[in-house]
Amino acid sequence: MDSTKLRKLFLDFFRKYEHTIVSSSSLLPTDQSVLFTTAGMQQFKPYYLGEKSPYGNNVASCQKCIRTSDIEEVGDERHLTFFEMLGNFSFGGYFKEEAIKLAYNFIVKELKLKIDYVTVFSPDKVIEGDWRKGVQEDKESFEIWKKVGVPEKKIKKEGIDSFWGPTGDEGPCGPTTEIYINGIEVWNIVFNEFFCDKDKSLKKLEPAGVDTGMGLERLAMVVQKKETIFETDLFESLIKEIEKLSEKKYKDYQKEFRIIADHIKASVFLASEGVAPSNLAQGYVVRRLMRRVVRYGKLLKMSDDFITPLIKIVVEIYKDVYPELAKKHDEIISIMRQEEEKFEKTLEKGLKILSQELRVRDYNPNKETKDIPDITPIDGILAYTPPVLTGKWLFDIYQTFGFPLELSLEEIEKMRGKMHRLELERVKKEFYKEMEKHQELSRTASAGMFKGGLADASLETTKLHTAAHLMLAGLRKVLGKHIFQKGSNITAERLRFDFSHKEKMTPEQIKMVEDFVNEAIKKDLPVKFEEMTLDEAKKINAMGVFESKYGEKVKVYTIGPGDEIVSREICGGPHVERTGILGNFKITKEESSSSGIRRIKAILEQ
Ligand code: SER
Repeated sequence: MDSTKLRKLFLDFFRKYEHTIVSSSSLLPTDQSVLFTTAGMQQFKPYYLGEKSPYGNNVASCQKCIRTSDIEEVGDERHLTFFEMLGNFSFGGYFKEEAIKLAYNFIVKELKLKIDYVTVFSPDKVIEGDWRKGVQEDKESFEIWKKVGVPEKKIKKEGIDSFWGPTGDEGPCGPTTEIYINGIEVWNIVFNEFFCDKDKSLKKLEPAGVDTGMGLERLAMVVQKKETIFETDLFESLIKEIEKLSEKKYKDYQKEFRIIADHIKASVFLASEGVAPSNLAQGYVVRRLMRRVVRYGKLLKMSDDFITPLIKIVVEIYKDVYPELAKKHDEIISIMRQEEEKFEKTLEKGLKILSQELRVRDYNPNKETKDIPDITPIDGILAYTPPVLTGKWLFDIYQTFGFPLELSLEEIEKMRGKMHRLELERVKKEFYKEMEKHQELSRTASAGMFKGGLADASLETTKLHTAAHLMLAGLRKVLGKHIFQKGSNITAERLRFDFSHKEKMTPEQIKMVEDFVNEAIKKDLPVKFEEMTLDEAKKINAMGVFESKYGEKVKVYTIGPGDEIVSREICGGPHVERTGILGNFKITKEESSSSGIRRIKAILEQ
């Protein structure tokens, strides 16, 4: 049974049981606390909370979803960033008994599938102190499963894996019961009994609701008796096309094929909703997805513009279900091609740096690379790399140029022959350690705990942060010592900076500040920090912003070596290690912010 039939069968089944069929909502939700639609229930969230549903109490849908939390997992047998979710929902219409019976009948009677086992929620499996610990055991679901014919030994008790929600900061949530077939979770049936607050406290929801979700790809996999989701008809033609374009066999490069196939789908769907690659929010996700497609395409040695034929295949697979894909076909191709070309250039630059650097290392194994005069640093990377091959350096290359470790290692081996097993292990270990550190930082950032007015801990944001220090020094030089920082807000895309000054800056003054910053960038100055007491910091004339906030010890960031210090500020970081990496600094706006305060917006161009 192909996936088109499956979708229809599901929706027809629920129509027969008096559910209204509702179309998929957009991938971009109205709920601002989440980036994407990740579940079928999201468009119905208000109806669980008492708002009257225009569709009646019982509905069913097939929802387009994007989940990015699993992006690093894609490449295995069952993780995806884009997927479709079949679901039936009830807002006070029916509850556990009916929901379980409907699911059982669809799976066992309609599709004739064999259930491996089901799970039900039990707080005994939840650790002490968890916010779900106080929820009662779902004995009712246990009894209902027995009644419909699932033997007791196939009903497993589970902890937080059998509890769902909320999506976003707050919302409906509750215990779930899940159906497993051939070892994988196929259907998640949530009983929305609670409302979960921002602080994770639970209130009873009256009436309780039902929210179910079944991944179409996984269902297709079990119905079509395939080993993985990538062998189903939802992927088959894509995989074949990649085989054709790369002249390689899927069985030899499963991970690469799967990543390309999944990410191209997600990108096409997002582009069809007008999301273009950028450094912000949803746009950043498309950029990341697209760049991974290009990188893995490179690993498979795909020729230029392998993207267009793949886009065509995605549109072909889905055009009947999601007509917007065919309508926006040309627009999608143009958005994605542009990004591909842009990224190709970045990759080329990265490759050049990588091979140049390797040559330096190999000819001068004992020398600091920065002492070698005949090699010009590009984007500063060369200048701060250590003389031995380290995973940290490869991680920097990955962060700046999107070079995956595999690609770097391949280049290295091409240039200097096969690496020794021990060196390879060390480098890999270091790389992943660095990656973990970075993820830790990003998590801190997403929890809103990041210092210095930075929106995140990405390299782009960090670069702009260092640029802000240089700019403050430039402003003080050009306009005078009355200039103090009054606030800043930095994202991956731009810096915003408020400072004390009364008059509008002239174009000449703006140019002088830009020149000052770009001069410091060109010199590729080192950026260092030291910890000291506030008094010591004041003694060496470090600039401070909001003094009252500082604790006993402060960090002082200094840009430039001893005889050429251009900036010295009390600051929590983070900063880049050398200024050469920053690119070209440009002030895009200078305006009044409030009385006596001016505001600058500035960017770094590559
Ligand atoms: N909201 C649940 C899920 O996404 C069930 O639909 O798994």
